[in-house]
Amino acid sequence: MQDLTKSICMNILAALILAMAIDSMRLVNTTLATLDNDSPYGLIEQGTVVIEDGRIQWVGPEQALPAQYAEHETQDLDGRLLTPALIDCHTHIVHGGHRAREFEMRLEGASYEEVARAGGGIVSTMRATRAADVDSLVASALPRVDALLAEGVSTIEIKSGYGLDEETELNMLRAARRLESLRTVRVRTSFLGAHSVPPEYKGRADEYIDEICLPTLRLAQAESLVDAVDGFCEGIAFDTQQIARVFDEAIRLGLPVKLHAEQLSHLGGTALAARYGALSADHVEYADEQDAMLMAKAGTTAVLLPGAFYTLRETRIPPIASFRQHRVAMALATDCNPGTSPATSLLLMMNMACTLFRMTPAEALAGVTCHAAAALGLEDTGRIRRGMRADLAIWDVEHPAELSYRVGTNKLYQRLFADVDD
Ligand code: NIG
Ligand code: FE
Repeated sequence: MQDLTKSICMNILAALILAMAIDSMRLVNTTLATLDNDSPYGLIEQGTVVIEDGRIQWVGPEQALPAQYAEHETQDLDGRLLTPALIDCHTHIVHGGHRAREFEMRLEGASYEEVARAGGGIVSTMRATRAADVDSLVASALPRVDALLAEGVSTIEIKSGYGLDEETELNMLRAARRLESLRTVRVRTSFLGAHSVPPEYKGRADEYIDEICLPTLRLAQAESLVDAVDGFCEGIAFDTQQIARVFDEAIRLGLPVKLHAEQLSHLGGTALAARYGALSADHVEYADEQDAMLMAKAGTTAVLLPGAFYTLRETRIPPIASFRQHRVAMALATDCNPGTSPATSLLLMMNMACTLFRMTPAEALAGVTCHAAAALGLEDTGRIRRGMRADLAIWDVEHPAELSYRVGTNKLYQRLFADVDD
């Protein structure tokens, strides 16, 4: 292992950063929710985890620990719960301004679509985002990032999509990369140029795709700013043919795709995403069993976003039973954005997924760990398993169901972040 990999950073509450260079460590006296065996949560009572060079070297019950690890520096977790660090696999955390006034309008009776058609919605955030430079985008996003880290998050997906012009789309992605350099966090970026048609292209969505979206995607890729390509397939955004053109370009550039699909209506976005082997189809309230079957076949994860469902007071619940039946992995994310989900608590999303969508607490924990990793195409995080990054969260709870059960209570004791090369 290279020297660079020989450190583990520990973050404490409120995201105060305490970085410790540790070659090896043994975590003992802990309940493990490994997400890596057939029991719910992958529980191991009185477990031990051995970490070497930022990666998990051994996992199992304490009494089975091989003698070779007995000398490693020990951290006694006093019976606390150890889980993989959490992963927020769908955020718009970089953006300018807020939409509190729109919140009021919706309370007065306007629908999300009416607000959008009246020039509010995504376009109002576009204006605020265009007015911000990279420094201010970073400064406004940092407290939101810190709120996630303080809840045990170690990986965050961040989308563009509020610039809708070349400069601002690139600036959003640059801000996302900068955030990664400022905190002990792994950031995965998604180019979301096909989020909305900006006012200067009103009624000319195809021209927007050709003249702005695709050229900007190429520039972003040339600057190594993009890890995946996203889109918004909806009546107020883009249709399946327009999204397909964006996806074709993504494939040409060697980038994986994902899609905001079937959020407010059934337009066929999920089937399109599956056809392109998408990492994920997100929202999916209006997806049906056929969609679930296509997703299962394509290995596409369903990313469920209870914060947006709640904020918009939606009533149509994603087809959880079909996802279960066809074994579609279900991830959960905050969808942190100023319009439909001004949320920075993944723990709250776990609670909402259980209460609003009737997911189980075990599904909710898998949704913010191993399935969220799958939604980002990450194979080395999200489970407590040999060889994985030692991105871990230590909780002051007795049972993993407590993470979903509490409302607005953060029981994180400590976050471990593996400072290893990707
Ligand atoms: O994920 N659905 C589309 N995009 C965002 C909302 C963006 C906004 O309203 O600003 C979402 O919910
Ligand atoms: Fe979103």
